[in-house]
Amino acid sequence: MLKTHTCGELDGRHVGRRATLAGWVHRRRDHGGLVFIDLRDREGITQVVFNPERTAAAHALARDLRNEYVIQVQGEVSRRPAGTENPRLPTGEIEVLVDHLTIYNPAKTPPFYINEDVEVDESLRLKYRYLDLRRPKMQENIILRHRVVKFMRDFLDQEGFLEIETPILIKSTPEGARDYLVPSRLYPGHFYALPQSPQQLKQLLMVAGYEKYFQIARCFRDEDQRADRQPEFTQLDLEMSFAGEEDILDLTERLYTQLIRAIHPKARLITPFPRLTFDECLLKYGNDKPDLRFGMEIAELGDVVADTQFGVFRSALTEGGCVRGFSAPGCAGYSRRQLEELGELARSYGARGVITIALGAPEQAGAPLESLTLEEVRSAAARYLSLEQVQELARRTGAKPGDLLLLVAGPTAVAEQSLGQIRAAMGQRLGLADPDFLAMAYVVDFPLFEWSAQEQRWEPAHHLFTAPQESTMHLLDTAPDRVKARHYDLVCNGYELGSGSIRIHDRKLQEKVLTLLGYTPEEQEERFGHMLEAFEYGAPPHGGIAPGIDRLVMLLAQAPNIREVIAFPKNQAALDLMTGSPSPVSRRQMEELHLQAMAQEDA
Ligand code: AMO
Repeated sequence: MLKTHTCGELDGRHVGRRATLAGWVHRRRDHGGLVFIDLRDREGITQVVFNPERTAAAHALARDLRNEYVIQVQGEVSRRPAGTENPRLPTGEIEVLVDHLTIYNPAKTPPFYINEDVEVDESLRLKYRYLDLRRPKMQENIILRHRVVKFMRDFLDQEGFLEIETPILIKSTPEGARDYLVPSRLYPGHFYALPQSPQQLKQLLMVAGYEKYFQIARCFRDEDQRADRQPEFTQLDLEMSFAGEEDILDLTERLYTQLIRAIHPKARLITPFPRLTFDECLLKYGNDKPDLRFGMEIAELGDVVADTQFGVFRSALTEGGCVRGFSAPGCAGYSRRQLEELGELARSYGARGVITIALGAPEQAGAPLESLTLEEVRSAAARYLSLEQVQELARRTGAKPGDLLLLVAGPTAVAEQSLGQIRAAMGQRLGLADPDFLAMAYVVDFPLFEWSAQEQRWEPAHHLFTAPQESTMHLLDTAPDRVKARHYDLVCNGYELGSGSIRIHDRKLQEKVLTLLGYTPEEQEERFGHMLEAFEYGAPPHGGIAPGIDRLVMLLAQAPNIREVIAFPKNQAALDLMTGSPSPVSRRQMEELHLQAMAQEDA
């Protein structure tokens, strides 16, 4: 090695010893006589000193050093003069008195500061990702990711799981997104698909008798980008034979609790992980990935206001919709502008607005509900409501004087979604979304199918290999919308962390589900023939789960999006700004692949 120690390990115990360090110039200070360099490598920073009296040659060379030069120094570890120690650095007690300097490579001035934690335009960071990755925060994130994955591997190994790789060039596996396709050179007009997940392959490994499989699996999905989505991402993919829901949920819960305790000991967890039904989540939190760090649960209020003349309530209820709402604690004093912002948010999710009911003033906090008078209630709906109705709305939502009721009236799906968003925004605004609280929970009892209004057909709520719950199996022919799935999600702080299910392992049942989803017998054979056939050669009962690793690391790193925890991510427009991909290819490559680019021809 070109170094004897890392830049993070020398301290008082090494004083008097010789050391060779190598790394990057993090900062340079030229104090006339002495040149000080903060030398950085992956493990930390060490101060090295060039004194012309110790070595004139190295000192002269050191005067030309600039940030990010790559150097090696040899010298003696020395205690820093009293009063100049840096208690914030693990190496802050010592410095290295250099007597030999080698410059391995100079560096141009980087396009942004590497040695300061300042906001930098993300496009610039992504273009120069190799420089961005040098920044201490990014190094922490990437090291954290390594530790998370290592913990998963060790834990699952202990539990008897085998890590098995599955191919990247496969046949399309529908998971609800568009496929990335790879044209075949040898078979004109034929394509491989990149896996949206190893779903079919892990099930086939169960048929093959491996019983407990896992993989740190790369998945590829051509879908709209969001803060928690990338075109390629990583799952901890696992599958077990002879296991039911409880086995998989118990294993996942043990893994996540132990992992978080080991890696982020100050995080707060709720154990055992609460279990919520899908229906309960939609009602109380407005979505199926609730943020359980705070209450503010949404309540059904339609029956309380059923007989009012207030037009907004009346029209929602007569049109078959609902009136729902929740209480924001201590917010009765919100200004017109603040209320208007919430209305704007609701409108962006299709609602006509929010109806706000201020229960008195914030100073009334702590007073009993019964002390509130109708005159103290401020709302556009106030004159249509009796005191009893206001009190009942307050009771249903757990509101007290000083609180603000936020109600949405309209079609159920719109009320759910907009209230869910307003609740999340209020959680942030009121500082209730503590990033050190990892409120994990399981969501269960999902429907097996969802009706796609656009396609005018049933679609799987999870994926088409998910088994129906036995008790609702008889509804498959008569009321598919009421069939429940053996599907579960792991959620945390408003994100879906993972999804899984017990699978169908019987050919007849799989065919029935495929038929319900609109596949003709020919299509079933063509697309899923290998799975259907495999089920005829002794397929064991099996199930699994696939938690996303990027999202977990994002939460552990308290990062705002998953790009912060991926070494080389795409930007939000699915571009790799560093290498400039996707990019056109040569005509020759196109011809070899039997392709013609329509856009190019049009141009
Ligand atoms: P699902 O499609 O729900 O299930 O995905 C499982 C988990 O993968 C993560 N994830 C993503 N992360 C980043 N970017 C994306 N574009 C992205 N899409 C999904 C999420 C999600 O919860 N084969 C099934 C699992 C199973 O049934 O075992 C599957 O892939 O964290």
